[in-house]
Amino acid sequence: MTTNSPKPILVFDSGIGGLTVLREARVMMPERHFTYVADDAGFPYGGWEEGALKARIVALFDKLLALHDPEICIIACNTAFTLVGADLRAAFPQMRFVGTVPAIKPAAERTRSGLVSVLATPGTVRRAYTRDLIQSFASQCHVRLVGSENLARMAEAYIRGETLSDEAVLAEIAQCFLEQDGRKTDIVVLACTHYPFMANLFRRLAPWPVDWLDPAEAIARQARRLVPALEAIAPGEDVAVFTSGNPDFSTRRLMQGFGLRV
Ligand code: DGL
Repeated sequence: MTTNSPKPILVFDSGIGGLTVLREARVMMPERHFTYVADDAGFPYGGWEEGALKARIVALFDKLLALHDPEICIIACNTAFTLVGADLRAAFPQMRFVGTVPAIKPAAERTRSGLVSVLATPGTVRRAYTRDLIQSFASQCHVRLVGSENLARMAEAYIRGETLSDEAVLAEIAQCFLEQDGRKTDIVVLACTHYPFMANLFRRLAPWPVDWLDPAEAIARQARRLVPALEAIAPGEDVAVFTSGNPDFSTRRLMQGFGLRV
């Protein structure tokens, strides 16, 4: 199916973590254009009180949908979607939202040891949504929830070129590794879209090898199912929007590197 002026696909996160989803979305939908929105004025979402964060995101989408008129929205943020996914769908029934939730179901299907860890923000770890996922899909596993206060910020610094000490990173992930009755954790779910940027560090520092589960490809595939394929590349360009209105130099440079005009 072809349209004359195809609408962009909106990809949303609190910061730059959603870029890990954007890169997969581009692979799946090479003919489409993307509007990347970072609510950097609210970053990090991990520590927000739930009611206030909900109100903030719904109000923000009221503006974003009016301004950008997207084809669909990909909420590339576990902390946001596990809280506000249902509210967004209720508030904007004409829009389709593809969400990001901790990949607990695939982890439970894949684990051999039965020991799975979920590395997330403190917000995602607190969510009823996350507990429900465990109850529905992983009741036969031992699931350890690890809420990191600092990793999202550290990932932002790392992707902008700052060096992180091994000790600091290890301190954030160490809780993921559990040994019990001769069995060891074999899967760690990356339940924050910022974390895949650090996967190489995690692999190097892990006390033993595990699967680091990144849901980005599955999210992109789900989005592709909802977005009709175009015969030709849509005219236009990919843009990045920051709610602060004022991303710093290293952020602008990063966005340019991703082919996004700020
Ligand atoms: N990237 C976000 C997520 O997937 C959260 C980062 C934050 O704002 O704390 O959960």
